[in-house]
Amino acid sequence: MSENERKTACVTGGNGFIASALIKMLLEKGYAVNTTVRNPDDMKKNSHFKDLEALGPLKVFRADLDKEGSFDEAVNGCDYAFLVSAPKEMIEAGVQGTLNVIRSCAKAATVKRVILTSSASAIFGRPLQGDGHVLDEESWNELQLKNLKALAASGAVPIVHVDDLCRAEIFLVEKESASGRYICSSLSITVLNLARFVAGRYPEYNVQIDCFEGFPEKAKVCCSSEKLIREGFEYKCTNLDEIFDDLVEYGKALGILPH
Ligand SMILES: NC(=O)c1ccc[n+]([C@@H]2O[C@H](COP(=O)([O-])OP(=O)(O)OC[C@H]3O[C@@H](n4cnc5c(N)ncnc54)[C@H](OP(=O)(O)O)[C@@H]3O)[C@@H](O)[C@H]2O)c1
Repeated sequence: MSENERKTACVTGGNGFIASALIKMLLEKGYAVNTTVRNPDDMKKNSHFKDLEALGPLKVFRADLDKEGSFDEAVNGCDYAFLVSAPKEMIEAGVQGTLNVIRSCAKAATVKRVILTSSASAIFGRPLQGDGHVLDEESWNELQLKNLKALAASGAVPIVHVDDLCRAEIFLVEKESASGRYICSSLSITVLNLARFVAGRYPEYNVQIDCFEGFPEKAKVCCSSEKLIREGFEYKCTNLDEIFDDLVEYGKALGILPH
């Protein structure tokens, strides 16, 4: 690919779980990547950039969601921006931070599309009465809090392999007709069944399933990924074993999970 043809994408929060997988995929596809971290000098969090730099042009910038204008340099000249960094638990800070990055994109005037990675809690609001609910892109969490309790009470946990999520993000950024929200979930499982699955497949981690007693056996809701599929996207991994084996390996490599 010639340098003229090469597109540049900004990925915020380059040391996070999803962002680091996304950067790898973008570089492998021939993109140049600008990424941001709060502290580029933190070698413990940023050591993976060395391997990623071997895959293609990668620049690391310092930026903080709390500071307006902080992302100006990182998005300058970019064709696309993927907003993946997110402060833990704080909705208001997340909203302000997202607006800060979008303002930087508007200022740059080169960014043709912005992809914001949200969360399942954006569609799960109040606990739902009865069964058979389908949540789609029209569903909003009107409570405006990270309502993981509602998600657990509904019985449904939407799941996707991180590689499929990154493939979907790149698919959507490149797809002219794409617009609005997209749910990206290749399968759904109840909280109780997920606990049973993890306990059975990874007995070494001693997962206590009795604390999930009382959670519904059957999901009251399912999340529909129809809009993304209608757009032409195909999931590669719909196998729970594979999704979790890869996740566990990642956790071990990071030192979050014991070997
Ligand atoms: N992981 C999942 O299974 C999953 C599923 C669905 C949706 N999501 C959503 O996807 C997004 C990313 O998830 P993740 O699992 O990749 O998260 P993660 O690994 O915790 O990464 C979050 C990133 O945000 C950065 N960050 C936090 N506060 C910041 C701030 N004030 N300014 C700039 N950067 C900041 C962190 O960078 P520092 O190193 O600088 O702290 C970190 O790199 C989140 O919105 C999450 O809700 C995740």
